[in-house]
Amino acid sequence: MIKIKKLVKEFNSFRAVDGISFEVKKGELFGLLGPNGAGKTTTIRMLTGIIKPTAGTAIIGGYDIQKQTIKAKQLMGIIPEMANVYIDLSTIKNLLLMGELYGLSKNRRMKKAEELLRLFNLYDKRDQKAKNLSKGMRQRLIIAMGLMNEPKLLVLDEPTANLDVESVRLIRKLIREFNDKGTTILLTTHNIEEAGQLCDRIAIMNHGKIAAIERPEKLKHLTKRAISIEVSFEKQVNKEKLKFSEVSRVEKIGDKFKLYTEHPGDVIEKVVQYSQTSKNKIISLNTLAPTLEDIFLELIKRGEK
Ligand SMILES: Nc1ncnc2c1ncn2[C@@H]1O[C@H](COP(=O)(O)OP(=O)(O)OP(=O)(O)O)[C@@H](O)[C@H]1O
Ligand SMILES: [Mg+2]
Repeated sequence: MIKIKKLVKEFNSFRAVDGISFEVKKGELFGLLGPNGAGKTTTIRMLTGIIKPTAGTAIIGGYDIQKQTIKAKQLMGIIPEMANVYIDLSTIKNLLLMGELYGLSKNRRMKKAEELLRLFNLYDKRDQKAKNLSKGMRQRLIIAMGLMNEPKLLVLDEPTANLDVESVRLIRKLIREFNDKGTTILLTTHNIEEAGQLCDRIAIMNHGKIAAIERPEKLKHLTKRAISIEVSFEKQVNKEKLKFSEVSRVEKIGDKFKLYTEHPGDVIEKVVQYSQTSKNKIISLNTLAPTLEDIFLELIKRGEK
């Protein structure tokens, strides 16, 4: 469904996307996972024909996005990062307008709009002006708008960013359902959990490059290896004293130590023991889920092996 080869985007001399290649198969739910500034949106904008790549190609369903733009775009439903609705139109009119733009017949647009309103839990807001919708409702409407033309490929840039739990849950559920019904999906996220829960495969992106493409189980494995215990003591401690056998690495951050481990329970016990025998009180002790940065470090370390 998507074939991307050596895609590059330079802004002046800055390489926002630095020669990435990947493929998404029909029916797949594929995620681009990366921190702020990784180049996710720039990648999406190139492969949806919004900006021109500096180099490389993007083929959508067999059509080159640069040479056969219209054919390629007809296959796609696009939900951009900064998408918006027509705030003075009602919820249903926003959907109908999209249907009209896509060239659906009047009957068809009405039917589709009603179906999507129900699906996205917006039916009771159908006649409300979009400016009076909550943020979560508005994002649901934006996604519904991208689905009016029944796309074969749905492209979503950060579909759940900054939404409440309820909206996030509904949106993830619907993404899964559309995928189950056969829609190929490409989404971006900076949320490891979201990528792990939703995606069949995940491209891990940083500084314009893809560090790895993994299945979620692999990502979970990496994630497990990058759990850390954060601890601070009343009195000074030599970092070496905290290198217990289960600890792979110790970092000192201010007055805190970060102990990376696959066995947090054992390490906590040893930290407590250390505190007792050295009569040095623990001020704070936390188990931390890995950050994306930790995962990249794990990936880089693995690459070096
Ligand atoms: N039009 C532009 N002009 C100049 N630099 C740009 C432009 N668009 C993006 N960039 C730069 O390219 C880099 C990648 O940006 P991009 O928006 O693709 O990141 P992202 O992975 O989507 O991040 P986020 O998670 O914050 O949305 C950033 O350093 C950004 O400043
Ligand atoms: Mg972005």
